[in-house]
Amino acid sequence: MTQRQILVTSALPYANGHIHLGHLVEYLQTDIWVRFQRLRGRRCIYICADDTHGTAIMIRAKSEGIPETELLARMQKAHVDDFAGFDIEFDNYGSTNSPETRAVCEEIWAAIRKAGLVHEKEVTQLYDVEAGTFLADRFVKGTCPYCGLQNQYGDSCDNGHTYSPADLKDPVSTLSGTVPEVRSATHLFIEIERLHDFLAEWTQSGEHLQPEVANYLKGHFLHEPLRDWDISRPAPYFGFEIPDSPGNYWYVWFDAPIGYIGSTRAWCNRTGENFDDWWRSDKTEIHHFIGKDITYFHTLFWPAMLKTAGFSLPKKVHIHGFLTVDGEKMSKSKGTFIQASTYLKHLDPSYLRYYYASKLSPRVDDLDLNLDEFANKVDADLVNNVVNLASRAAKLAQKTGLSETYPDDGGLFEQAAADGNQIAAAYEACDYNRAMRAILAAGDRANQFFNDKAPWELRKVPDQQDELRDICTIALNLFRQLAIYLAPVLPRLAKQTGDLLNDPITSWDQANKPLLGTQVNNFTHMMTRVDREKVKAMVEESRQADAAPSAAPQHDDSDEPLKAEPLASEISFDEFMKVDLRVARVLEAKHIPEANKLLQLTVSFGGGETRNVFAGIKSAYDPEQLVGRLVICAANLAPRKMKFGVSEGMILASGSGGKEIYVLSPDEGAKPGQRVH
Ligand code: MSP
Repeated sequence: MTQRQILVTSALPYANGHIHLGHLVEYLQTDIWVRFQRLRGRRCIYICADDTHGTAIMIRAKSEGIPETELLARMQKAHVDDFAGFDIEFDNYGSTNSPETRAVCEEIWAAIRKAGLVHEKEVTQLYDVEAGTFLADRFVKGTCPYCGLQNQYGDSCDNGHTYSPADLKDPVSTLSGTVPEVRSATHLFIEIERLHDFLAEWTQSGEHLQPEVANYLKGHFLHEPLRDWDISRPAPYFGFEIPDSPGNYWYVWFDAPIGYIGSTRAWCNRTGENFDDWWRSDKTEIHHFIGKDITYFHTLFWPAMLKTAGFSLPKKVHIHGFLTVDGEKMSKSKGTFIQASTYLKHLDPSYLRYYYASKLSPRVDDLDLNLDEFANKVDADLVNNVVNLASRAAKLAQKTGLSETYPDDGGLFEQAAADGNQIAAAYEACDYNRAMRAILAAGDRANQFFNDKAPWELRKVPDQQDELRDICTIALNLFRQLAIYLAPVLPRLAKQTGDLLNDPITSWDQANKPLLGTQVNNFTHMMTRVDREKVKAMVEESRQADAAPSAAPQHDDSDEPLKAEPLASEISFDEFMKVDLRVARVLEAKHIPEANKLLQLTVSFGGGETRNVFAGIKSAYDPEQLVGRLVICAANLAPRKMKFGVSEGMILASGSGGKEIYVLSPDEGAKPGQRVH
């Protein structure tokens, strides 16, 4: 069989923010996959870069009074250091602001033009004369044209009305504080609808995307004609000027994915590799790892661009969910918006590598970092189970070394060797949670064996030294199998194991053959228990950290297409009908002074039937706005005991939290108590 050749990417982090624990879900997931592939003997390269263009960078450089390139160099160094601190190793870490990326942009653009997919349209936008720039929606504030609410963003108000920035009353630019003008400019659009059939086929083939992602695309985009994609921005814009449209620049999301190819080209130039083997050949499988928020760009536009320009299409786009900390969105005020560099000041990177691995599945579900569970899991699984076995056995075997022939262990080694296949299949499928569980089960068996044999009791018995050596030979070999299977997740542990037993871990197959007759070196400490005080100190430092905008993951423009969540897995009609949704009227709504998020509502289903409901909508609604209003309420949820009382239902709302919460209402005429179906 020919060797598999694989090119792997992670999404390119924005250059205007530091790496935080949310980003690391992705970079650790990818690094583990790459290390796994290499351990299995595949040729695998890992490519990434900084995503450098767009308005946000331009504005930030301006506010710091430095050229964009200076800001980019500083951020790139910070990103590279953070990744190295977590043992994330790239073959090339480039920048989208590079000659290689520009050249590939030009090549792909020429192909798109040649295919006749580009046309021009006039776009009306607010223009800040003083700052000399068009304003993306989030750089304008004013009064809602519908409800008169003041100090609202250019696209929607906190009461849920949406409008275009040009309709906002009394608009003010947040850049200069001046009143912007309405101006129009020519933008270039790509008619992606012309690739509809291809995209329907590619996304729904079952080969390239997780099933819930394929469903989401079908339900949200592919069921109707795809909208033209606005891919240009007029000057001033920090990016590449479009060669055949002077004064216009490619929108950052045009050149960002092209950065994958640009960074590969830079790697080829540096190493003498043949570029076409990697991006224009069946020889190479391309795997992208991304978060769910950028699904749309990677599963519709990107394949369309690659197809049009004759580059290889991804074999798979692996999409993961978002990180929450202790059940909530990362929050600066709670100290759970933790930057990579802050974590590294307090805790061992291997802890987080393992913890994320133990939580990651092939699904798009969000993933929670629970700080208590984090500490308990690392202690129980890694320190007590894995490392403790090595330390106890190695200390006893130091004098004797390993036996010359492998003793009878009742089939434990064979069993763990056979487990290797299913563990490998789990890694391959990104089901790291399953892989970790299988590895720990082997660890439990090994510890059980060691404890049953109690070899420490033989240490001083002269005629039992062979027996002692045999028990330690078995224990250390069983430990070594664990270290091999964990090597993608814990490269440091793999290295220490190689050093301890004089046999570096370089291949998965080493788990099939016991190591015999070698010396056991001095045991040097491998991993300590998690110090809870350090976890607290990390949270405290994050709480106090300067809440500079640089820390937030910022998407560049507010006119990006909706970044919705992928659809949940399918349920039957009967399952749906189990939820009793009712129209309800809010009779009373009040603040709970001690609650950060909740309002307490009394809702009526008519006929004297009322319910007490706690709704997490305080950040977006004042109680007065709700009284008298009709809402939709899930009426048959089991009552939930909460800190402030029992909640007897749930009010339906959409949105991502904070100010972005939109309570649902029925159309006029609906009556309290009516069932919604
Ligand atoms: N620059 C774009 C990607 C361009 S790829 C051609 C971008 N950058 S980002 O810095 O905002 O995010 C980088 C990656 O980290 C994305 O895949 C994103 O989904 C992921 N994450 C950012 N915050 C995250 C969490 N809180 N949780 C999990 N992943 C998150 O998007």
